Amino acid sequence: YQPVKIAPSILSADFMHLSDSIALIEEGGANFVHIDVMDGHFVPNLTMGVPLLKQLAPATDMVCDVHLMIDNPLIELPWFIDAGADLLNVHAEALTDEELVRAVAMIHEAGCLAAVALKPKTPASALAPVIADLDMALVMSVEPGFSGQSYIVGSDLKVAEVAARARAAGNDEMLIQVDGGIGVATAPLVAAAGADVLVCGNAVFKAEDPASAITAVRGAADE
Ligand code: DX5
Ligand code: ZN
Repeated sequence: YQPVKIAPSILSADFMHLSDSIALIEEGGANFVHIDVMDGHFVPNLTMGVPLLKQLAPATDMVCDVHLMIDNPLIELPWFIDAGADLLNVHAEALTDEELVRAVAMIHEAGCLAAVALKPKTPASALAPVIADLDMALVMSVEPGFSGQSYIVGSDLKVAEVAARARAAGNDEMLIQVDGGIGVATAPLVAAAGADVLVCGNAVFKAEDPASAITAVRGAADE
């Protein structure tokens, strides 16, 4: 049994003191640093990208977990790979089945970890073309675009379905990440359903003490 991994999303961090925020979560035991890349087209928000990742990646030992909420991941993937991403999440909705296979292959050829993300209304079956090869699946528990939204009730059912599909495909190593509205109240639900990695934006960075918030969410999930 492995304790859940915590992936704080720096979208909720104080951008004017970003290096302090990174140090706080790293010392607080965060496993991944979750970087929400939004292009203003795939989702109605514009956030951060390659120049930030280039500086952040060499400055931390955490896994740089890049969540690409963008229209053209096949074009832009190499930029993020070169900038130092360890784990790349592409959205199934942005790609055809054939493109999804190419995206995962491109990530693996670069020696990085590959994940496919699903918006709340996208069925777990969208993972089918690549599920046997994925390092991780990302189940969105809010509509992507903004931090600080409420967890969509029932998202844990999709986590359980994704877990069952991975097992059926013989991919026992695949991690499941859940992203959106995760905190001490929702972590136990998704962890019980099979989540391995919990993204936390506001639950960590809007807490008075981000390090103890990480411990609290992990503790709640592992109860
Ligand atoms: C939403 C992003 C999430 C978000 C999480 O589009 O993908 O990573 O920032 O923030 P919280 O945990 O506050 O919902
Ligand atoms: Zn995210």
